Amino acid sequence: MKSVKIGEIKINNPVALSPMAGISSLPFRIICNEMGAGYSPTELVSARSIRYNGIDKSLRYMRISPEEEGITAIQLFGSEPDDFTAAIATILDTPVLKEVSIIDINMGCPVPKVVKTGSGSALMEDPARAADIVRACKKAVEGVGRNIPVTVKTRTGFNAEDRGKPDFAKALADAGCDMLCVHGRTRPQMYHGDSSNEAIAVMREAVKDYKIPFFANGDICDVKSALKMIEDTGCDGIMIGRAARGNPWIFEQVTAGLEGRGAPELPDAGARKRMLIRELEGRLKYLPEDVAVREFRSVMPYYVKGFTGSAQLKVRLVGATGIDEVKEILEIG
Ligand SMILES: Cc1cc2nc3c(=O)[nH]c(=O)nc-3n(C[C@H](O)[C@H](O)[C@H](O)COP(=O)(O)O)c2cc1C
Repeated sequence: MKSVKIGEIKINNPVALSPMAGISSLPFRIICNEMGAGYSPTELVSARSIRYNGIDKSLRYMRISPEEEGITAIQLFGSEPDDFTAAIATILDTPVLKEVSIIDINMGCPVPKVVKTGSGSALMEDPARAADIVRACKKAVEGVGRNIPVTVKTRTGFNAEDRGKPDFAKALADAGCDMLCVHGRTRPQMYHGDSSNEAIAVMREAVKDYKIPFFANGDICDVKSALKMIEDTGCDGIMIGRAARGNPWIFEQVTAGLEGRGAPELPDAGARKRMLIRELEGRLKYLPEDVAVREFRSVMPYYVKGFTGSAQLKVRLVGATGIDEVKEILEIG
């Protein structure tokens, strides 16, 4: 794929990691970028919580490392433009965070707790408010001496019968959003059923006259599905979510495939175990060991998928309490 510009930020390889709560840890994002991902946003963080509780509670989810990651993006969710204004002011006043390259707004989260507050995918039902939020974010990033782009990640609809929301996409582009990423499922689908490239294409078409890059997302799991997404939607970039869990090599594979090179094989079990430990060690840099290992329990099974005896390994890994125990289970020193 050709490089794209999000505002003034150049993304050399527009194959990005899709933000995932509980998965998009800083060490994992660094690894994905090393494997070729163009950039990797943080998981969603509440703008309201930053506004009213301060940065400390949310900091661990939006920890970025511009030095190690290159391009960085923090994803915020909320429903009140003022919450975004305040949250961004705080971010831009916090060491390291203030160096963030991109602010991304979540307008796709289907979780009832989020939707109930008018945030995430609920914003698809209120394009005027969504546009106000984009404008508030654009205003909030002004005046720091560099143009920080504001991007939006959304879905193809709020209701089951929706087949793309062209007017919503236009409202966001009119409000000045610098990139739009669309996941081809509606809110009630959550993560089930097929993602619809056709519905994504409807939204792509709606904003084709705006000079902003369009990213497509949903069910990309290999070179073939990546190529199909690009062909079906005419997108400028793609985001890969679930297929990257425990498998950062997917960025190397998809990138090679899109460039017409042979996709490298998935590395052997030893290399995958070492990568698991590398991510866990990265998490230990900012979390107490018991918390880091407990939270990593849901991620470890993905790293050992397909191993001989992997069912047994998974059972043991999800009960692990410390890194030494994880190493012992994996039989690595
Ligand atoms: C566990 C999990 C957590 C997610 N968290 C977020 C999130 O914080 N922000 C977001 O925009 N999307 C989130 N998503 C949605 C993904 O970014 C992506 O849009 C979706 O999984 C479809 O892409 P895929 O088929 O490649 O997984 C999450 C998905 C999963 C499975």
